[in-house]
Amino acid sequence: MKVLLTGGTGYIGSHTAVVLSQLGHEVVLYDNLSNSRDAVLKTLAKITGRHFPLVRGDVRDTELLRNALASYGIDTVIHFAGLKAVGESVVKPIDYYANNVQGTISLLQAMQAQQVKTLVFSSSATVYGQPQYLPLDENHPTGATNPYGRSKLHIEEMLSDAASSDADWRIASLRYFNPVGAHESGLIGENPNGAPSNLMPYIAQVAAGQRSELRIFGNDYPTPDGTGVRDYIHVMDLAEGHAAALKFLNQASGWHAINLGTGKGCSVLEMVCAFKKASNRQVPYRVDTRRIGDVAACYANPTKAAELLNWKAKRTVDEMCASTWQFQQTVEIE
Ligand code: NAD
Ligand code: WQD
Repeated sequence: MKVLLTGGTGYIGSHTAVVLSQLGHEVVLYDNLSNSRDAVLKTLAKITGRHFPLVRGDVRDTELLRNALASYGIDTVIHFAGLKAVGESVVKPIDYYANNVQGTISLLQAMQAQQVKTLVFSSSATVYGQPQYLPLDENHPTGATNPYGRSKLHIEEMLSDAASSDADWRIASLRYFNPVGAHESGLIGENPNGAPSNLMPYIAQVAAGQRSELRIFGNDYPTPDGTGVRDYIHVMDLAEGHAAALKFLNQASGWHAINLGTGKGCSVLEMVCAFKKASNRQVPYRVDTRRIGDVAACYANPTKAAELLNWKAKRTVDEMCASTWQFQQTVEIE
């Protein structure tokens, strides 16, 4: 297949580019480089031995997207492009709706104009809001607690409406749980700008000595050790989930919401312990108050992905930590 990855130079996009290319798909990247660098192109070539074309542009540029779809003969799009920081979305909601919602409208218009109607969308477990039961299956009520989450929900609703209006659309909304880890080469991974807001990159920087200590946001949750429990999923498993979704969409029309998670919860303290083991470094921490908006526990029921996509996450928390550490050691200190 000829696949356009919007946001393809970013964290999840670049790992997915590797997996798709190794499966024989032709991959074109489309990114405005607002949260990534074109240096990743050389790294991707090093890993795969293949060249990835990059169209540098914004997804809100419908004409540029149309041209990219036409000139590369694209038949499928995976839409990673968007802003993703929950805290920032509270401060800059308009930017989030513009990038995420307006960006998706622009993409849908370009795809419709070019008669490209197969789409995989990067959704998030955040669309479940406060869990009413666990594990979270796709029938759990949706709701959002911040503009980022709401932008994902609005997009899911648009995608579902588009699919209802025209049976040619084939759309999968993949609801990622907590993606972490890096490619086994250690050459690509997650390298956030500034202080990381997510747990794994923060732990990695503490282990590397770039930050003095981790703050654990609460140890009084109703969880086995009192710290927050999440469903961490290795980014390479996630990338393989996208390849499985493309295969599924070959024989399924309509809109499908599908969880991509492991089904297993891991606490903050368990993650700290696993990272210490993987890195053979200390990870000093202190317990702080709960972070506003956090839930005690969040993990997936991954049955639908197993049934529809014939896909299951297989990598362990130890592998997530080991690959993160390997990548961390190659990252320049900025
Ligand atoms: P990322 O920031 O590394 O990648 C996103 C890419 O999109 C970046 O390269 C950025 O430059 C690009 N981009 C942003 N706005 C754009 C625009 N208007 N036009 C063109 N390019 C644009 O983030 P990621 O972690 O790889 O996330 C990819 C997708 O997965 C996002 O949609 C995110 O919301 C979703 N997601 C991520 C997580 C996570 O924890 N990483 C969890 C659930 C869902
Ligand atoms: C995990 C656990 C924290 C940092 C976020 C988004 C979600 C999705 C994934 C995109 C929690 C604790 C964290 C720290 C800590 N993104 N923690 N100290 O909050 O589950 O999900 O990223 O869709 O929408 O909300 O992930 O990595 O921030 O936190 O104790 O310095 O680690 O309290 O229990 P979260 P996270």
